[in-house]
Amino acid sequence: MLVTSGMGAGLGGRRDGLRASLVSVQVTVLSGAGISAESGVPTFRDVETGLWAKVDPYEISSAEGWRAHPDKVWAWYLWRHYMMQSVEPNNGHRAVAAWQDYADVHVVTQNVDNLHERAGSKNVYHLHGSLFEFRCDRCDDAYGGVLPAMPEPVEIVDPPRCPCDGLIRPNVVWFGEALPDDAWQNSVEAVNNADVVVVVGTSSIVYPAAGLPELALANGTVVVEVNPERTPLSNAATVSLRETAAGALPGLLQRLPALLG
Ligand code: APR
Repeated sequence: MLVTSGMGAGLGGRRDGLRASLVSVQVTVLSGAGISAESGVPTFRDVETGLWAKVDPYEISSAEGWRAHPDKVWAWYLWRHYMMQSVEPNNGHRAVAAWQDYADVHVVTQNVDNLHERAGSKNVYHLHGSLFEFRCDRCDDAYGGVLPAMPEPVEIVDPPRCPCDGLIRPNVVWFGEALPDDAWQNSVEAVNNADVVVVVGTSSIVYPAAGLPELALANGTVVVEVNPERTPLSNAATVSLRETAAGALPGLLQRLPALLG
């Protein structure tokens, strides 16, 4: 296993040793809402602060919900779009971006925020879409028009109309919808080519994304989980750390040899 042998030598703390030993290593990061929690972005399933504790996910984040009340769904996503502009990447996002100096890093994210990119990550695949892209729900054309301002969260806002008279929706993947093909293909490739997969800030229950660490383990690849809570992946992961993203990620690559024993 390249990771263990090379790193033993390079990880005496010397940056150039680390760079030399990791340069041909591919690190694939699979991130979920938890990596953005320390930026002040609520996760989905936290019983108190989670988004799904406040709204019904099938009412607000499904094709059926959109058809039933597009104005409610549009308002909720517009609020999240604007909320993202008031937060910053944290040390977790920054660490992943900094790993690019040492290794070939690919980020597979379930997050619809752009904090990985704002931290400087280059290869980012959004499995569940983005809060910064919009498209017509009838002709699929991308929408680049003006978005209504939203100083305060409001219950309902009418979505803009496309010239084809379709409604403009956020380009996010709702429950029951397929994942974008290119993002999925890139993610599977990034897992298959990885020397180590770091799974951070996800409850590992939403498929098909939650199947990616299983694929890595089936390939015999090291899987390191970072999550303050246990998840269904914790037993199977090579290493499972009860730590936060911003706490664990900055020094994680240096700790790997000791963690892998
Ligand atoms: N650092 C690391 N992990 C954290 C932190 C933190 N600071 N804070 C919370 N977590 C963990 C939680 O313990 C939890 O296991 O992050 C996880 C967040 O889980 P979810 O809220 O279920 O979010 P996620 O796994 O990204 O959800 C997957 O479900 O609702 C859909 O489409 C939505 O992409 C989302 C998908």
